[in-house]
Amino acid sequence: MTSQLPDGYFDKPNVARVHDHLDGGTDNYVVDRDLAIDLVEVAPWLPTSIRTNRAHGPRVLDYFTRELGIDQVLDLGCGLPHDDHRHLSDDVRRIVYVDSDPGVEAHARMTLAERHGTESLHADLRNMPALLAAGPVARLDRGRPIGVLLHDVLPWIAEEAAHTALASLRAWLPPGSVLSVTHATTDLAPEAMAALARLNARSGIAFRPRSAQQIRELLRSWTPLETDWPVTTASWHQPAPLHERFDHSHAYAILASPGDRTP
Ligand SMILES: C[S@@+](CC[C@H](N)C(=O)[O-])C[C@H]1O[C@@H](n2cnc3c(N)ncnc32)[C@H](O)[C@@H]1O
Repeated sequence: MTSQLPDGYFDKPNVARVHDHLDGGTDNYVVDRDLAIDLVEVAPWLPTSIRTNRAHGPRVLDYFTRELGIDQVLDLGCGLPHDDHRHLSDDVRRIVYVDSDPGVEAHARMTLAERHGTESLHADLRNMPALLAAGPVARLDRGRPIGVLLHDVLPWIAEEAAHTALASLRAWLPPGSVLSVTHATTDLAPEAMAALARLNARSGIAFRPRSAQQIRELLRSWTPLETDWPVTTASWHQPAPLHERFDHSHAYAILASPGDRTP
């Protein structure tokens, strides 16, 4: 696997590996763990926030298959695989894992591609037309709805690139498709979020948590599926809203459809 990775790949921390460490994984290195220590110092709730976000993936896949009858999925910015990936329900008949990190994609290829109906792709959301034209994505059946996971990826992409990627995706998706977004927010702990952004920046990682208003703006062309949005990831479809004091998600969860694309 390492032969395909660029020189210096392991010299700097990397968001997928830092999150893997904070979620108790083993696919990470000293540089990642050192940054993780600094991050947790300014935001002790960060591991809970990451775990809440990661647990959201299987919940949404369940919702796609059981409630919406969607059984083909595009997981954009999939991150390093964790247990939830390995226990993917058989109701998901086809899933394409995409990530711009060559190490992540190599892992996805090795550990996930064993499952029938699973493919991986090394591609960058900032070139969405190329990503959508690539074999594994092009092989999805656009005669039927597609579910898209975009979980904790937009905070790592600059404003304009995020707008462009979302517009290309929206134009490409067949009717009935659904986009699931999670997005770190500045709304609940602005100072800690600013500190996280500063620490990431020191390691060369641009992290852009956004306010609810900024996230609404990013998704302005999409049609939200739920009237009350955005809600925090921890309170999404929970029987009773968690008391704010126990909600450490520090992120919003949104379901949206591409809506009417006629000019
Ligand atoms: C914080 S992780 C989230 C992983 C996973 N979606 C989850 O919810 O656990 C962000 C992932 O997005 C990927 N990523 C960041 N920018 C990207 C881009 N421009 N194109 C594709 N993937 C990207 C990173 O490599 C990383 O694996």
